[in-house]
Amino acid sequence: MSATELPARPGEFQPLHIGPIEVWPPVVLAPMAGVTNAPFRTLCRRYGAGLYVNQMITARALVEGHRKSLELAAFAPDETPRSIQLYGTEPYSIAEATRMLIDTQAVDHIDMNFGCPMKKVTRHGGGAALPWKRDHYRTIVRAAVNAAGDVPVTVKFRVGIDNSAITFLDAGRIAEDEGCKAVALHARTANQLYSGNADWRRIAELKEAVRSIPVLGNGDIWEADDALTMMRTTGADGVVIGRGCLGRPWLFADLADTFNGRPLAPRPNLGTVLDGMVEHAELLCQWMGEMRGIRDFRKHTGWYLKGFSTGNEIRRQLNRVGSLDEMRTLIAGLDRSVAFPDGGMRMVRGHHGSPKEVHLPDGWLDTRDGEVAMPAGAEALVSGG
Ligand SMILES: Cc1cc2nc3c(=O)[nH]c(=O)nc-3n(C[C@H](O)[C@H](O)[C@H](O)COP(=O)(O)O)c2cc1C
Repeated sequence: MSATELPARPGEFQPLHIGPIEVWPPVVLAPMAGVTNAPFRTLCRRYGAGLYVNQMITARALVEGHRKSLELAAFAPDETPRSIQLYGTEPYSIAEATRMLIDTQAVDHIDMNFGCPMKKVTRHGGGAALPWKRDHYRTIVRAAVNAAGDVPVTVKFRVGIDNSAITFLDAGRIAEDEGCKAVALHARTANQLYSGNADWRRIAELKEAVRSIPVLGNGDIWEADDALTMMRTTGADGVVIGRGCLGRPWLFADLADTFNGRPLAPRPNLGTVLDGMVEHAELLCQWMGEMRGIRDFRKHTGWYLKGFSTGNEIRRQLNRVGSLDEMRTLIAGLDRSVAFPDGGMRMVRGHHGSPKEVHLPDGWLDTRDGEVAMPAGAEALVSGG
């Protein structure tokens, strides 16, 4: 069978198990700062099925009671399972934050971020820089797993800092040793940021190294058949979907169809996409109030309309839209019958760009083992991955 033959054969893939949580199809929405809030998760869930992870929150900020972190850690009342990503660089705040999330938010799953490539994070030794310090990484993972008790903890990381500082195999083995219930690999180095292609061979290597818990593959799944190809060629136990669903939340419907052996629904025309935009904007406005909700929605406009030739003026206006009514009036003038653009699913949305030097604390790469005094600022409020 060819790696890209569609759809999946009955029984070809198994549900993903993250501790007690069974996930079918084996699809996880990637945590994306500023995107995967409760309204977005609700929307994606309406289309498909899988595990939908909340945005990343910073452990220390949560422990110190920052209002923004508490807000970000919120879930829709009927949301289940409740899954969230935590960022931190030292064991005390990670453990405290883990306990808080379980006690106050009743979370069912905690993912830890060890893949953030942003300068303000890596220059303090956080995110993708941290697994280089194997002992310290182990201490942090252990703190979270111990604090979480029966709640499953997973880790998400990149291939390494750059090609000369590869960390993913150690990161995976240590997570497995310490009782994590799955690992997820974004198959790029931090140095690559979002450029080039994710190197899925690394996912296969991780799968060889980590035997007793599920290995999830992440990077460049734009269409449902990419997920099948990734799983068939790497042996991954599940896939993590980031940018592919930006402006295309129905990708989760395609994934559910594909994994269940059904043909895909036809691509939506512009009218259907516009209806989805309004639904998304309404959910955001209900969640955070109309003024904030509509502003928050603006960044999604370009993703939804990517590839449609609507003209620049309407996009400019939508990028400044101030109310739901104004949005409805603006889009009422568009021709709803326009077909979905050829290749529209694969047009890159969200982050892209070229490789960048990874900023690290002085002397960071000199040693890998032993305890580390984390540089000041490492636990400052951060967002994004
Ligand atoms: C807007 C945006 C925000 C992101 N924020 C996070 C984050 O908070 N935590 C994280 O682990 N990864 C974050 N990522 C990375 C994604 O989770 C994912 O690993 C990456 O986009 C690669 O997958 P993809 O090719 O499917 O997009 C973010 C990505 C984007 C585009």
